[in-house]
Amino acid sequence: MIPFYEAVETRRSVRSFLPDPVPQDVLDRALDAALKAPSSSNLQPWRFIVLESPEARAGGIKACLDQAPATTAPLLVALVARPWSWRRHRDEILRIQTARGTLRPSQAAYYRKLIPLFYTHGPLNLLGFWKPAVSRIVSLFRPFPRLLTRTGVRLTAHKTTALAAATFMLALRAEGYDSCPMEGFDPYRAAKVLGLAHGEEVNMFFAVGKRAEGGIWFERALMPRDWVVQVR
Ligand SMILES: Cc1cc2nc3c(=O)[nH]c(=O)nc-3n(C[C@H](O)[C@H](O)[C@H](O)COP(=O)(O)O)c2cc1C
Repeated sequence: MIPFYEAVETRRSVRSFLPDPVPQDVLDRALDAALKAPSSSNLQPWRFIVLESPEARAGGIKACLDQAPATTAPLLVALVARPWSWRRHRDEILRIQTARGTLRPSQAAYYRKLIPLFYTHGPLNLLGFWKPAVSRIVSLFRPFPRLLTRTGVRLTAHKTTALAAATFMLALRAEGYDSCPMEGFDPYRAAKVLGLAHGEEVNMFFAVGKRAEGGIWFERALMPRDWVVQVR
């Protein structure tokens, strides 16, 4: 295993891969690590889809616009954000904690009362229309969180799902494997190939494998540290 900081240093977006397959146990450990990523309210609004069959892989490559990482990698994986999975996942958290006898009253109230307040928008999205105004007005008088619009729910799901993405790529690197995240894809074709349900959206694809010689196309170019780290 590559230690954490070395994995961070050596993780790069690889655009050209060796043909060697990714062992199942490596993939499974990286996926299991990704599934432990933090998520907003622990709602885990994601799913990974491993494109294993030749047809799925060919469809994935096309959806990824025939990008070099997709065409050369031995494995393609899609990560899907599921903004509207909150109710089912909330129920599952309550079920697990209840079965274990570890459900705290505050936790039960949070999931039963507050979460629906954040995630529902009423018929015809009428509540969604008023939520930003309510948040703004109350915040004039006391600190108050932003009540989510429908777009806010999608944003939250993608924000959280990207943490699973980062964990997945770092875990692969820790295993000595490489990846390239890809946001350059055709969302309509991707949805069809992956058989996405209504409301599900691809967060990103990953090309996965071992880097080929010359597989890193660009030297790392980081912003000056004082542009991106500030102390107040
Ligand atoms: C959300 C996201 C989408 C990306 N989409 C693509 C892509 O479609 N094709 C590609 O070759 N690289 C893609 N990249 C890789 C970035 O170009 C790369 O992370 C960035 O240049 C920094 O390089 P590094 O990852 O090697 O450190 C994407 C990265 C992220 C995080």
